[in-house]
Amino acid sequence: RVGGPIVTDLLQCRKPEGPDFPEDLQCCPPMPTSEPIDFTLPDPSEPLRTRRPAHVAGAEYMAKYKRAIALMKALSRSDPRSFYQQANIHCAYCTGAYVGHPELAVQVHFSWLFFPFHRAYIYFFERIAGKLLGDPGFAVPFWSWDVPEGMRMPLQFANASSPLYDPMRNPWHAPPKLVDLDYTMDVVENNYTDDEQIKHNLWIMYKQMIRSAPLASLFHGQPFRAGETDKPGAGTVKLQPHNLMHAWVGDLLSYPNAEDMGAYYAAGRDPIFYTHHANIDRLWDAKTLRTLIGSTPHAFLFYDEEARLVRITARDVLDMDKLRYTYHGVGLPWLDARP
Ligand code: C2O
Repeated sequence: RVGGPIVTDLLQCRKPEGPDFPEDLQCCPPMPTSEPIDFTLPDPSEPLRTRRPAHVAGAEYMAKYKRAIALMKALSRSDPRSFYQQANIHCAYCTGAYVGHPELAVQVHFSWLFFPFHRAYIYFFERIAGKLLGDPGFAVPFWSWDVPEGMRMPLQFANASSPLYDPMRNPWHAPPKLVDLDYTMDVVENNYTDDEQIKHNLWIMYKQMIRSAPLASLFHGQPFRAGETDKPGAGTVKLQPHNLMHAWVGDLLSYPNAEDMGAYYAAGRDPIFYTHHANIDRLWDAKTLRTLIGSTPHAFLFYDEEARLVRITARDVLDMDKLRYTYHGVGLPWLDARP
């Protein structure tokens, strides 16, 4: 049905083809032994998971995230809960690997699918991590690059012997380097002082969250519809700072596609990806736009913490409370950051 929602079909996952992908790239999930089950909300009596900002979360909390990543990395590659398969989810949803019903390559980055897809992704990732840790209250840390105290890569990610490390990052952007939310793809570093950089970052946040997004549709991105283009148009925050932070972490000089973080197919391989996207998810919530009328029947597939294949729709993820998680407040210092 042209104009209708897209339903992801695992049986129609194929090898991504294209000049930007390695020859041997394969990112389809393991085949399930039975039909996917429909998503149901977690029990309201479950502990509320509070996602904390990495810069104030504390050593114990960050060590938990590290242990979760180590446990995921230790699972067999054929296990859908393994880090390898979790990273591949991102690849499958952004390379045209999935062909949806009705036929249209599934691409979650250039339309209103962006926020709900990534919310569902982090939701399952977090529950898998909690299950492996034996901690039902486990919550992923978020990288609050939009508040001054969070504008550096959290130290835990920069330790080369940690499972949180990724050797393919830009070495110039290791801490204490401040993030540049206006990082240009031509890889030129600006020469701002720290104060100027912080001010500029806050202004970018104000611009993308407030000034340029007076309408919900500008914030969310354009409708993704069967029979139309797979890239109808991304929302403001998706374009910047979301994309630029991917590029800023990646190393465009050493790797032409800026893998891992700077390339969609590889971004999930960097453990910082999930903390970056928890922040994006927090910004969606901060905008208090929980409704995405029209996008709601779009369905995605994920394996859950019991390795069951689950079909989840955009409608299912609109209410964080019902998903049993929340964000520890760090403020929104850019709310009024006009230049
Ligand atoms: Cu799915 Cu940050 O991209």
